[in-house]
Amino acid sequence: MSRARIGTAIGEAVRWLKAGELVAIPTETVYGLAGNALQADAVARIFEVKNRPSFDPLIVHTDSAEKVPALVSSFPEQARRLLKIFAPGPLTLLLPRSALIPDLVTAGSPRVAIRIPNHPVVLELLHQLDFPLAAPSANPFGYISPTSAEHVMDQLGDRIPYILDGGPCEVGVESTIIGWEGEDAIPTIWRKGGIPVEDIIDVLGPVVLKSESTSNPQAPGTLKSHYAPRKPLVLGALDQLLEQYAEQHPALLLFGEPFRQEVPAGHQFQLSSKGDIGEAAQRLFAGLRILDGLPEAEVILASPLPEKGLGMAINDRLRRASYRGA
Ligand code: TXA
Ligand code: MG
Repeated sequence: MSRARIGTAIGEAVRWLKAGELVAIPTETVYGLAGNALQADAVARIFEVKNRPSFDPLIVHTDSAEKVPALVSSFPEQARRLLKIFAPGPLTLLLPRSALIPDLVTAGSPRVAIRIPNHPVVLELLHQLDFPLAAPSANPFGYISPTSAEHVMDQLGDRIPYILDGGPCEVGVESTIIGWEGEDAIPTIWRKGGIPVEDIIDVLGPVVLKSESTSNPQAPGTLKSHYAPRKPLVLGALDQLLEQYAEQHPALLLFGEPFRQEVPAGHQFQLSSKGDIGEAAQRLFAGLRILDGLPEAEVILASPLPEKGLGMAINDRLRRASYRGA
């Protein structure tokens, strides 16, 4: 296939998707690699293009809570309440699937992941389609998620026909994934993401945090090693790490603190000079990509952010990116 075109023509994306092809789509979290969620061939192609193991299920995107009942076999009150408050937004619900959803989408699981993204371009696109879109993040499996059309072009540009450009993603980390476990249907957070855990607790009361657990067959994309740059990323106290890795021309991911004099400015990326966690989330993946691309740096060093709000989602990504196997 020739190289993808980047454009803003929703009509063109509609034509490709109706023809069973894949299109990269903007969302408020990260760019997605989208295909017709109800057509098994298109879904199979997503796994192929992304190089994703077929045991790792996909999120189904729709534009309205009214379209959810057709996709699920039950729609519990807590799920409805969450959608009322947070949709459209960076939240994904795991619900019992309906017969409409192909096996491949859920990797055989009885539950389907549903999300209503908050981006005007993709909402209009979904509005014009009579099917929902299956879309994982538009990166090769295991690598840093894309937060701009150019990021998608760099990595999947020779594998898809069209990249729908909606500008840089405003949230910058993936959606929060929540499901209901066991007979008691306890709300369980499978992935920390764009809706802070605290906000969900405000609505539902206590939740279980599953995203801490190790490899997890039920949500394999929460594998420990994920979202990773090609270079090793080491998390810890910067002063100490700088001493330890001085010989390896380290690159630094900073949050709030000033640039280090002993490291070249080009080797430092500031997530947010004013210490704003939302801004840091927005810039996280782009920053990691820039540092990963520096020819001289052999290692990326970073400190965890405060463990609250979006900081929890950022730290989760940093921890997974830094994990190099047991
Ligand atoms: O913000 C987002 O959620 C982005 C944008 C494009 O919407 N999408 C995204 O998709 O992050 P992906 O495929 O990179 O991550 C989806 C996660 C994976 O960890 C997958 O294992 C989990 O959702 N997941 C999907 N369906 C599931 C299911 N039925 N049961 C358990 N986990 C599921
Ligand atoms: Mg992903």
